[in-house]
Amino acid sequence: MEIKSDYLLSNNVSIPSIGFGTWQIPSGKIAYESTMHALKSGYRHIDTAAAYENEKSVGEAIKASGINRQEIFITSKLKAGMKGYEIAKREFAETIKKLDVDYLDLYLIHAPKPWGINTSGIEYNDQNVETWKAFIDLYHEGKIKAIGVSNFRPEHLQPLLDKTGFVPHVNQIFLCPGALQTETVAYAKPISILIEAYSPFATGRLFKLDLLKTMAIKYNKTMAQIALRWSLQHGFLPLPKSVTPERIEQNLDVFNFEIAQADMDLIDTVKLPFSHH
Ligand SMILES: NC(=O)c1ccc[n+]([C@@H]2O[C@H](COP(=O)([O-])OP(=O)(O)OC[C@H]3O[C@@H](n4cnc5c(N)ncnc54)[C@H](OP(=O)(O)O)[C@@H]3O)[C@@H](O)[C@H]2O)c1
Repeated sequence: MEIKSDYLLSNNVSIPSIGFGTWQIPSGKIAYESTMHALKSGYRHIDTAAAYENEKSVGEAIKASGINRQEIFITSKLKAGMKGYEIAKREFAETIKKLDVDYLDLYLIHAPKPWGINTSGIEYNDQNVETWKAFIDLYHEGKIKAIGVSNFRPEHLQPLLDKTGFVPHVNQIFLCPGALQTETVAYAKPISILIEAYSPFATGRLFKLDLLKTMAIKYNKTMAQIALRWSLQHGFLPLPKSVTPERIEQNLDVFNFEIAQADMDLIDTVKLPFSHH
Protein backbone atom coordinates (compact mmCIF):
# COMPACT_ATOMS: atom_id res chain seq x y z
CA MET A 1 0.00 0.00 0.00
CA GLU A 2 1.63 3.19 -1.15
CA ILE A 3 1.21 6.12 1.19
CA LYS A 4 1.66 9.52 -0.36
CA SER A 5 3.56 12.22 1.46
CA ASP A 6 0.61 14.58 0.92
CA TYR A 7 -3.16 14.26 1.14
CA LEU A 8 -5.67 16.38 -0.76
CA LEU A 9 -8.37 18.16 1.18
CA SER A 10 -11.90 18.35 -0.25
CA ASN A 11 -11.12 21.83 -1.63
CA ASN A 12 -8.02 20.44 -3.44
CA VAL A 13 -5.56 22.01 -1.03
CA SER A 14 -2.54 19.75 -0.54
CA ILE A 15 -1.58 18.88 3.06
CA PRO A 16 1.55 16.96 4.16
CA SER A 17 0.41 13.62 5.57
CA ILE A 18 2.39 13.90 8.82
CA GLY A 19 2.34 17.07 10.92
CA PHE A 20 4.68 18.09 13.71
CA GLY A 21 2.71 18.45 16.97
CA THR A 22 3.68 21.22 19.40
CA TRP A 23 1.35 20.81 22.40
CA GLN A 24 3.25 21.06 25.70
CA ILE A 25 6.39 22.31 23.98
CA PRO A 26 7.36 25.32 26.09
CA SER A 27 7.57 28.65 24.33
CA GLY A 28 11.08 30.03 23.77
CA LYS A 29 14.21 28.00 23.12
CA ILE A 30 12.61 24.54 23.21
CA ALA A 31 9.72 25.37 20.87
CA TYR A 32 12.07 27.25 18.55
CA GLU A 33 14.67 24.48 18.40
CA SER A 34 12.17 21.60 18.08
CA THR A 35 10.30 23.32 15.28
CA MET A 36 13.55 24.20 13.56
CA HIS A 37 14.74 20.61 13.84
CA ALA A 38 11.45 19.34 12.45
CA LEU A 39 11.74 21.67 9.45
CA LYS A 40 15.39 20.75 8.86
CA SER A 41 14.41 17.05 9.03
CA GLY A 42 11.82 17.49 6.30
CA TYR A 43 8.52 18.22 8.07
CA ARG A 44 6.48 20.74 6.10
CA HIS A 45 3.43 20.75 8.36
CA ILE A 46 3.36 22.28 11.84
CA ASP A 47 0.42 22.00 14.25
CA THR A 48 0.16 24.70 16.90
CA ALA A 49 -2.65 26.50 18.74
CA ALA A 50 -3.27 29.72 20.61
CA ALA A 51 -3.76 27.61 23.74
CA TYR A 52 -0.24 26.14 23.43
CA GLU A 53 1.20 29.63 23.96
CA ASN A 54 4.11 28.90 21.64
CA GLU A 55 2.91 30.45 18.37
CA LYS A 56 5.56 33.18 18.56
CA SER A 57 8.48 30.73 18.90
CA VAL A 58 7.04 28.43 16.25
CA GLY A 59 6.70 31.41 13.89
CA GLU A 60 10.27 32.52 14.58
CA ALA A 61 11.61 29.07 13.70
CA ILE A 62 9.57 29.00 10.50
CA LYS A 63 10.95 32.37 9.48
CA ALA A 64 14.55 31.52 10.42
CA SER A 65 14.41 28.17 8.59
CA GLY A 66 14.68 30.01 5.29
CA ILE A 67 12.04 27.73 3.76
CA ASN A 68 9.46 29.53 1.63
CA ARG A 69 6.26 30.26 3.49
CA GLN A 70 4.20 28.60 0.72
CA GLU A 71 6.08 25.33 1.26
CA ILE A 72 5.07 25.06 4.92
CA PHE A 73 1.59 24.06 6.00
CA ILE A 74 0.76 25.92 9.22
CA THR A 75 -2.20 25.00 11.41
CA SER A 76 -3.39 26.92 14.43
CA LYS A 77 -6.51 26.74 16.56
CA LEU A 78 -9.00 29.10 18.14
CA LYS A 79 -9.17 28.55 21.91
CA ALA A 80 -12.19 26.52 22.97
CA GLY A 81 -13.54 29.31 25.18
CA MET A 82 -13.32 31.97 22.45
CA LYS A 83 -16.61 31.65 20.63
CA GLY A 84 -18.60 34.05 18.45
CA TYR A 85 -18.16 35.86 15.13
CA GLU A 86 -16.23 38.96 16.26
CA ILE A 87 -14.19 37.09 18.85
CA ALA A 88 -13.09 34.54 16.25
CA LYS A 89 -11.96 37.28 13.86
CA ARG A 90 -10.08 39.09 16.60
CA GLU A 91 -8.38 35.91 17.83
CA PHE A 92 -7.42 34.95 14.27
CA ALA A 93 -5.74 38.35 13.85
CA GLU A 94 -3.82 37.74 17.11
CA THR A 95 -2.69 34.31 15.96
CA ILE A 96 -1.31 35.42 12.59
CA LYS A 97 0.40 38.32 14.34
CA LYS A 98 2.09 35.99 16.84
CA LEU A 99 3.13 33.59 14.08
CA ASP A 100 4.15 36.59 11.96
CA VAL A 101 2.48 35.25 8.80
CA ASP A 102 -0.16 36.81 6.57
CA TYR A 103 -2.28 33.70 6.10
CA LEU A 104 -2.85 30.33 7.77
CA ASP A 105 -3.08 27.04 5.91
CA LEU A 106 -5.57 25.61 8.38
CA TYR A 107 -7.50 27.13 11.28
CA LEU A 108 -9.50 24.96 13.64
CA ILE A 109 -12.11 25.51 16.34
CA HIS A 110 -10.12 23.81 19.12
CA ALA A 111 -13.08 22.15 20.83
CA PRO A 112 -16.89 22.26 20.72
CA LYS A 113 -17.21 23.21 24.39
CA PRO A 114 -15.20 25.74 26.40
CA TRP A 115 -12.71 24.04 28.73
CA GLY A 116 -12.66 24.20 32.48
CA ILE A 117 -16.12 25.66 33.09
CA ASN A 118 -19.55 24.21 33.68
CA THR A 119 -21.12 24.31 30.21
CA SER A 120 -24.67 23.46 31.26
CA GLY A 121 -26.96 26.18 29.97
CA ILE A 122 -24.38 27.45 27.47
CA GLU A 123 -25.64 27.18 23.90
CA TYR A 124 -22.24 26.20 22.58
CA ASN A 125 -23.64 24.65 19.39
CA ASP A 126 -25.16 28.03 18.45
CA GLN A 127 -21.91 29.76 19.41
CA ASN A 128 -19.98 27.33 17.22
CA VAL A 129 -22.21 28.21 14.27
CA GLU A 130 -21.44 31.95 14.73
CA THR A 131 -17.74 31.13 15.07
CA TRP A 132 -17.92 28.95 11.97
CA LYS A 133 -19.42 31.86 9.97
CA ALA A 134 -16.32 33.93 10.78
CA PHE A 135 -14.11 31.03 9.67
CA ILE A 136 -16.05 30.79 6.38
CA ASP A 137 -15.64 34.54 5.76
CA LEU A 138 -11.90 34.41 6.51
CA TYR A 139 -11.63 31.44 4.15
CA HIS A 140 -13.43 33.30 1.35
CA GLU A 141 -11.19 36.33 1.95
CA GLY A 142 -8.17 34.04 1.32
CA LYS A 143 -6.73 34.50 4.80
CA ILE A 144 -7.05 30.78 5.57
CA LYS A 145 -6.54 28.06 2.93
CA ALA A 146 -8.67 25.47 4.76
CA ILE A 147 -10.91 25.50 7.84
CA GLY A 148 -11.92 22.86 10.28
CA VAL A 149 -12.70 21.74 13.78
CA SER A 150 -11.15 19.65 16.52
CA ASN A 151 -12.64 17.32 19.11
CA PHE A 152 -16.03 17.57 17.33
CA ARG A 153 -18.29 14.55 17.50
CA PRO A 154 -21.10 14.07 14.94
CA GLU A 155 -23.61 15.90 17.17
CA HIS A 156 -21.29 18.93 17.20
CA LEU A 157 -20.65 18.82 13.46
CA GLN A 158 -24.28 18.48 12.41
CA PRO A 159 -25.36 22.01 13.50
CA LEU A 160 -22.52 23.56 11.45
CA LEU A 161 -23.67 21.67 8.36
CA ASP A 162 -27.36 22.37 8.96
CA LYS A 163 -26.93 26.09 9.61
CA THR A 164 -24.18 27.00 7.12
CA GLY A 165 -23.95 24.13 4.61
CA PHE A 166 -20.17 24.50 4.76
CA VAL A 167 -18.49 21.16 5.52
CA PRO A 168 -15.23 21.45 7.50
CA HIS A 169 -12.17 20.35 5.57
CA VAL A 170 -10.63 18.71 8.66
CA ASN A 171 -11.60 17.27 12.04
CA GLN A 172 -8.63 16.79 14.38
CA ILE A 173 -9.40 14.18 17.03
CA PHE A 174 -7.71 11.92 19.60
CA LEU A 175 -7.02 8.83 17.53
CA CYS A 176 -4.53 6.01 17.97
CA PRO A 177 -4.52 2.23 18.50
CA GLY A 178 -6.98 1.75 21.37
CA ALA A 179 -8.93 4.92 20.54
CA LEU A 180 -10.47 4.34 17.12
CA GLN A 181 -13.29 6.96 17.28
CA THR A 182 -15.30 4.84 14.85
CA GLU A 183 -18.46 6.98 14.93
CA THR A 184 -16.69 10.26 14.20
CA VAL A 185 -14.54 8.63 11.52
CA ALA A 186 -17.58 7.02 9.86
CA TYR A 187 -19.42 10.36 9.88
CA ALA A 188 -16.47 12.14 8.23
CA LYS A 189 -15.79 9.73 5.41
CA PRO A 190 -18.80 10.21 3.07
CA ILE A 191 -18.56 14.00 3.36
CA SER A 192 -14.77 14.06 2.76
CA ILE A 193 -13.65 15.51 6.06
CA LEU A 194 -9.98 14.59 6.52
CA ILE A 195 -9.33 13.08 9.93
CA GLU A 196 -6.21 14.29 11.70
CA ALA A 197 -5.02 11.94 14.44
CA TYR A 198 -3.79 13.84 17.46
CA SER A 199 -1.81 12.18 20.28
CA PRO A 200 -0.85 9.34 17.90
CA PHE A 201 1.14 7.82 20.81
CA ALA A 202 -1.59 8.61 23.36
CA THR A 203 0.86 11.19 24.76
CA GLY A 204 3.30 8.34 25.47
CA ARG A 205 0.93 5.77 26.99
CA LEU A 206 0.95 3.70 23.80
CA PHE A 207 4.53 2.60 24.42
CA LYS A 208 3.32 0.35 27.26
CA LEU A 209 1.42 -1.94 24.89
CA ASP A 210 2.95 -5.38 24.43
CA LEU A 211 1.41 -5.88 21.00
CA LEU A 212 3.09 -2.72 19.73
CA LYS A 213 6.42 -4.06 21.06
CA THR A 214 5.84 -7.34 19.23
CA MET A 215 5.03 -5.51 16.00
CA ALA A 216 8.08 -3.27 16.34
CA ILE A 217 10.30 -6.35 16.57
CA LYS A 218 8.51 -8.07 13.70
CA TYR A 219 8.90 -5.12 11.32
CA ASN A 220 12.28 -3.99 12.70
CA LYS A 221 10.84 -0.52 13.38
CA THR A 222 10.17 1.40 16.57
CA MET A 223 6.80 1.35 18.34
CA ALA A 224 6.36 4.98 17.35
CA GLN A 225 6.88 4.12 13.69
CA ILE A 226 4.37 1.24 13.90
CA ALA A 227 1.77 3.60 15.41
CA LEU A 228 2.31 6.26 12.74
CA ARG A 229 2.29 3.80 9.87
CA TRP A 230 -0.93 2.26 11.25
CA SER A 231 -2.49 5.72 11.26
CA LEU A 232 -1.41 6.46 7.68
CA GLN A 233 -2.62 3.08 6.38
CA HIS A 234 -6.03 3.94 7.83
CA GLY A 235 -5.97 7.19 5.85
CA PHE A 236 -5.54 9.41 8.92
CA LEU A 237 -3.09 12.26 9.26
CA PRO A 238 -0.98 11.73 12.41
CA LEU A 239 0.51 14.62 14.40
CA PRO A 240 3.43 13.25 16.43
CA LYS A 241 5.07 15.52 19.01
CA SER A 242 8.65 15.26 20.20
CA VAL A 243 11.33 17.56 21.50
CA THR A 244 14.04 14.91 20.95
CA PRO A 245 15.97 15.36 17.68
CA GLU A 246 16.36 11.66 16.81
CA ARG A 247 12.69 10.97 17.58
CA ILE A 248 11.61 13.93 15.46
CA GLU A 249 13.53 12.39 12.55
CA GLN A 250 12.37 8.84 13.26
CA ASN A 251 8.72 9.90 13.27
CA LEU A 252 8.96 11.05 9.66
CA ASP A 253 10.71 7.89 8.51
CA VAL A 254 7.63 5.71 8.02
CA PHE A 255 7.18 5.68 4.25
CA ASN A 256 9.43 2.69 3.49
CA PHE A 257 7.54 -0.25 5.00
CA GLU A 258 4.05 -1.65 5.17
CA ILE A 259 2.02 -3.28 7.94
CA ALA A 260 0.24 -6.40 6.66
CA GLN A 261 -3.56 -6.28 6.81
CA ALA A 262 -3.73 -9.06 9.42
CA ASP A 263 -1.44 -7.04 11.69
CA MET A 264 -3.46 -3.86 11.04
CA ASP A 265 -6.52 -5.80 12.23
CA LEU A 266 -4.68 -6.98 15.34
CA ILE A 267 -3.51 -3.47 16.20
CA ASP A 268 -7.13 -2.32 15.80
CA THR A 269 -8.08 -4.54 18.75
CA VAL A 270 -5.64 -3.23 21.40
CA LYS A 271 -6.87 -1.50 24.53
CA LEU A 272 -5.07 1.50 26.00
CA PRO A 273 -3.75 0.97 29.56
CA PHE A 274 -6.03 3.71 30.93
CA SER A 275 -8.50 6.08 29.38
CA HIS A 276 -7.76 9.47 27.85
CA HIS A 277 -8.19 12.48 30.16
N1 LIG B 1 -6.65 19.32 19.12
C1 LIG B 1 -6.41 18.92 20.35
O1 LIG B 1 -7.23 19.07 21.27
C2 LIG B 1 -5.12 18.21 20.63
C3 LIG B 1 -4.95 17.52 21.85
C4 LIG B 1 -3.75 16.84 22.05
C5 LIG B 1 -2.76 16.87 21.07
N2 LIG B 1 -2.95 17.58 19.90
C6 LIG B 1 -1.89 17.64 18.84
O2 LIG B 1 -1.29 16.36 18.66
C7 LIG B 1 0.10 16.44 18.94
C8 LIG B 1 0.65 15.15 19.49
O3 LIG B 1 -0.04 14.71 20.64
P1 LIG B 1 0.62 14.70 22.08
O4 LIG B 1 1.40 15.94 22.27
O5 LIG B 1 -0.49 14.39 23.02
O6 LIG B 1 1.63 13.50 22.12
P2 LIG B 1 2.06 12.23 21.25
O7 LIG B 1 2.63 12.70 19.96
O8 LIG B 1 0.97 11.21 21.25
O9 LIG B 1 3.22 11.68 22.21
C9 LIG B 1 4.29 12.51 22.60
C10 LIG B 1 5.13 11.76 23.60
O10 LIG B 1 5.79 10.66 22.94
C11 LIG B 1 7.19 10.83 23.03
N3 LIG B 1 7.74 10.42 21.72
C12 LIG B 1 7.60 11.04 20.53
N4 LIG B 1 8.20 10.37 19.56
C13 LIG B 1 8.75 9.26 20.12
C14 LIG B 1 9.49 8.19 19.62
N5 LIG B 1 9.81 8.10 18.33
N6 LIG B 1 9.92 7.22 20.50
C15 LIG B 1 9.61 7.32 21.83
N7 LIG B 1 8.90 8.33 22.35
C16 LIG B 1 8.46 9.30 21.52
C17 LIG B 1 7.44 12.28 23.32
O11 LIG B 1 8.62 12.47 24.06
P3 LIG B 1 9.68 13.68 23.81
O12 LIG B 1 8.91 14.89 23.36
O13 LIG B 1 10.29 13.84 25.16
O14 LIG B 1 10.65 13.19 22.78
C18 LIG B 1 6.22 12.60 24.19
O15 LIG B 1 6.42 12.16 25.53
C19 LIG B 1 0.17 17.63 19.91
O16 LIG B 1 1.48 18.10 20.07
C20 LIG B 1 -0.78 18.59 19.27
O17 LIG B 1 -0.18 19.22 18.15
C21 LIG B 1 -4.12 18.23 19.68
